[in-house]
Amino acid sequence: MRFLHLGVGLLLLLSAQHAPAVVIPSPECQTQCGDVEIQYPFGIGDSCSLSAYYNISCEVQEDNVYKPILYGVEVLNISLIHSTIRVLNHISTYCYNSSSGAMETNPWTFNANGFPYRFSDVHNKFTVIGCNTLAYIMDSDGTGYQSGCVSTCNNKSDLVDGSCSGMGCCQTAIPKGMGYYDVSFDGGFNTSNIWRFSRCSYAVLMEAEAFNFSTTYINTTKFNDTNIGRAPVVMDWAIGNVTTSCEVAERNETGTYACLSRNSECLVSPNGPGYLCNCSKGYEGNPYVLGGCHDVDECKNNPCPSGGICHNTPGDYWCSCRAGRKFTSQNNTCSIDTGLVIVISALFGYMIIQKRKLNQVKQEYFREHGGMILFERMRSEKGLAFTVFSEAELTQATNNYDKSRIIGKGGHGTVYKGIVKGNTPVAIKRCALIDERQKKEFGQEMLILSQINHKNIVKLVGCCLEVEVPMLVKNQALEISFSTLLRIAHEAAEGLNFLHSYASPPIIHGDVKTANILLDENYMAKVSDFGASMLAPSDKEQYVTMVQGTCGYLDPEYMQACQLTEKSDVYSFGVILLEVLTGQEPLKLDGPETQRSLSSNFLIAMKENNLDPILPSHIKGQESNELIRGLAQLAKQCLDMSGINRPSMKEIADELGRLRKLSLHPWVQLDVEMETQNLLDGASTASFQIEGATTGYPTQDGENLPMNPRSSYYAR
Ligand SMILES: *[C@@H]1O[C@H](CO)[C@@H](O)[C@H](O)[C@H]1NC(C)=O
Ligand SMILES: *[C@@H]1O[C@H](CO)[C@@H](O)[C@H](O)[C@H]1NC(C)=O
Ligand SMILES: *[C@@H]1O[C@H](CO)[C@@H](O)[C@H](O)[C@H]1NC(C)=O
Ligand SMILES: *[C@@H]1O[C@H](CO)[C@@H](O)[C@H](O)[C@H]1NC(C)=O
Ligand SMILES: *[C@@H]1O[C@H](CO)[C@@H](O)[C@H](O)[C@H]1NC(C)=O
Ligand SMILES: *[C@@H]1O[C@H](CO)[C@@H](O)[C@H](O)[C@H]1NC(C)=O
Ligand SMILES: *[C@@H]1O[C@H](CO)[C@@H](O)[C@H](O)[C@H]1NC(C)=O
Ligand SMILES: *[C@@H]1O[C@H](CO)[C@@H](O)[C@H](O)[C@H]1NC(C)=O
Ligand SMILES: *[C@@H]1O[C@H](CO)[C@@H](O)[C@H](O)[C@H]1NC(C)=O
Ligand SMILES: *[C@@H]1O[C@H](CO)[C@@H](O)[C@H](O)[C@H]1NC(C)=O
Ligand SMILES: *[C@@H]1O[C@H](CO)[C@@H](O)[C@H](O)[C@H]1NC(C)=O
Ligand SMILES: *[C@@H]1O[C@H](CO)[C@@H](O)[C@H](O)[C@H]1NC(C)=O
Repeated sequence: MRFLHLGVGLLLLLSAQHAPAVVIPSPECQTQCGDVEIQYPFGIGDSCSLSAYYNISCEVQEDNVYKPILYGVEVLNISLIHSTIRVLNHISTYCYNSSSGAMETNPWTFNANGFPYRFSDVHNKFTVIGCNTLAYIMDSDGTGYQSGCVSTCNNKSDLVDGSCSGMGCCQTAIPKGMGYYDVSFDGGFNTSNIWRFSRCSYAVLMEAEAFNFSTTYINTTKFNDTNIGRAPVVMDWAIGNVTTSCEVAERNETGTYACLSRNSECLVSPNGPGYLCNCSKGYEGNPYVLGGCHDVDECKNNPCPSGGICHNTPGDYWCSCRAGRKFTSQNNTCSIDTGLVIVISALFGYMIIQKRKLNQVKQEYFREHGGMILFERMRSEKGLAFTVFSEAELTQATNNYDKSRIIGKGGHGTVYKGIVKGNTPVAIKRCALIDERQKKEFGQEMLILSQINHKNIVKLVGCCLEVEVPMLVKNQALEISFSTLLRIAHEAAEGLNFLHSYASPPIIHGDVKTANILLDENYMAKVSDFGASMLAPSDKEQYVTMVQGTCGYLDPEYMQACQLTEKSDVYSFGVILLEVLTGQEPLKLDGPETQRSLSSNFLIAMKENNLDPILPSHIKGQESNELIRGLAQLAKQCLDMSGINRPSMKEIADELGRLRKLSLHPWVQLDVEMETQNLLDGASTASFQIEGATTGYPTQDGENLPMNPRSSYYAR
């Protein structure tokens, strides 16, 4: 196959995550040992755990039971949410030997310094049991903490079950940050005189909740015997070591950042060094594995008022009420919407009112550009969830708007790649200059993006209001894989169809071009840049003010009548189809004047029934005639001078779907493969390339990008 240059500018929205070469943990990793569930970063064996720190061995005991062992201690529970691990800790004893007449002890030192484990100051207490005992606890290798606990019982009958207050039992708290302790008993307090009643004293740092004093601990060995000389202790664990803060970890591009799931965030460990990962609000699961955090279906618990309808959304939910009622979040009720109460006669009137309301909202927005009131209203009335980012957050997310982070530049602003809130990769759009028109565009885009949620349309995560220059933050959405150029066109058509049919009034994109079809890291198409979009306005006046778009894509009818309709988007989409088909740019500014416009060249060729001169030879030679004819026919219909004759976006999407299905030819089943540099140099194997040439996007030197816009998509 020959190398073909396709002038299609596809921007990549990229994930900043570094997908490891192999899936970790491998599905073959054991996730259970005995009764204990082992979740990554913990794992059994080297290749199943994040590092040796979390390497658990599953060992068989005498009674044929398997027990998880970490650094020689038995593990009882691992919690990812709390970032804790319960292990069995050694009990120190101090006993009188009646035959030797001496006190005997077994000294004990626990040392987790240098490991990402610390004793939980919240869950543990240093616990001492005995009738004449003073035991010391010391952290001589860290916090420097030293304490002791005295326990006596002058009279056996003083002992009370369940009470640990110095009579037979003593407890004391420990500070944060302890990873080391040793225990010693004071020789001045011993059981040489009371050994017939109470021979031994005990001391251990243990989980307070697991302890309930029993008087039998004094005169029997029950306390020592319950767990074979051990007691449960809770340790806080973390990722990384002494110096690894969240900031450092997130910035580290070498792939050591452990919060791999997209919907996760990094937290500073509350106890000791290192950081933790947690699923973001509204998500649950394992933040340490790719795709580990999944949406919580809040609607399961019926959070909406009776009569309300619950809508689950990724990471959130919202409530709506039946027509005529509106949802009030403050008191979680559906109350009668006074704005609607007068409208008795249903749908028609309702829609008009909705439309008017929308216009009001719009106007209000334009008036107070960025007012919080609108957000609050959108949040409560429409259940829309925005995040309001601060300027500082966005500056940090984009590394101070670093040039290397630019992924697109257009008439409406510059788009940067950034990472916010843990590791959500986002495209951040910043309007370069702000005049009245651009303020409007910003509002337009916000308003439209905030109202739609479709897999092929760029999702709005939030916005930033602190600065003069308003900023939009767009999210990339779902992780669905796909791999063909036709599919990209098809998906873009689906996105546009959604815009056109989603709402009354319909949303018209107004600036459909290849540069506005973003690709996420899974090569899913996302229609973007709604700066020129509009909700088909109720009064015609508004049309006039909105003339814009991009040369080469502009609907000729629109240019004459100044009337933007859905069919204007269809025309522009027809130009995209031409680019796909011919591999040429919509306008060739350096060509002879008569051949500058791709669409007129194409239409002339179609009229003469001779596409040959404009089709690249490898397409002519290799692709099925039916597919070529189908695409050409579709493009021709889209480019009809009269909008009425053009197909609807739905028809286009359907036809593209049909063409994709119909053709079993490999061209349509392209696999997107990773570009290797030598292919870019025009090697002979690749068959067609997508390049960010059309609209003057800056060259992107891919940092950690899996694929840059100049990468090739090629067929076998
Ligand atoms: C991890 O544990 C396995 C036993 O389960 C052991 O063979 C291996 O050496 C350990 N690796 C490290 C780095 O500690
Ligand atoms: C801890 O593990 C035990 C079994 O080993 C289980 O019964 C218990 O519910 C677990 N506790 C928590 C808090 O997970
Ligand atoms: C008590 O001391 C004797 C003699 O020193 C020793 O043989 C015995 O093992 C000790 N008993 C215990 C329970 O430690
Ligand atoms: C027990 O403590 C007393 C002082 O309280 C001391 O005189 C005695 O030697 C100790 N006995 C042993 C066996 O340590
Ligand atoms: C802490 O991390 C650094 C860099 O990853 C490593 O070189 C060092 O050995 C680690 N320290 C400990 C105590 O694990
Ligand atoms: C222990 O307490 C009981 C009742 O509280 C009392 O009868 C007894 O005399 C006390 N013994 C001593 C040695 O004080
Ligand atoms: C401790 O044990 C006693 C009985 O030995 C019981 O009555 C009490 O409820 C227990 N307390 C807790 C907190 O479990
Ligand atoms: C231990 O002491 C309790 C009361 O303090 C008594 O009821 C029990 O029988 C004693 N057990 C032994 C084995 O001496
Ligand atoms: C405590 O239990 C351990 C394990 O069963 C045993 O080795 C040790 O001798 C016991 N100590 C006492 C004082 O009972
Ligand atoms: C990033 O991770 C690598 C590999 O663990 C480590 O050597 C390096 O020190 C880390 N960089 C920072 C800034 O923590
Ligand atoms: C992690 O998130 C869950 C759910 O949002 C929350 O309950 C938990 O407290 C968080 N853990 C930490 C360590 O903040
Ligand atoms: C809830 O709040 C709305 C608006 O503030 C109010 O109209 C409605 O009466 C309230 N409902 C109840 C049950 O308090």
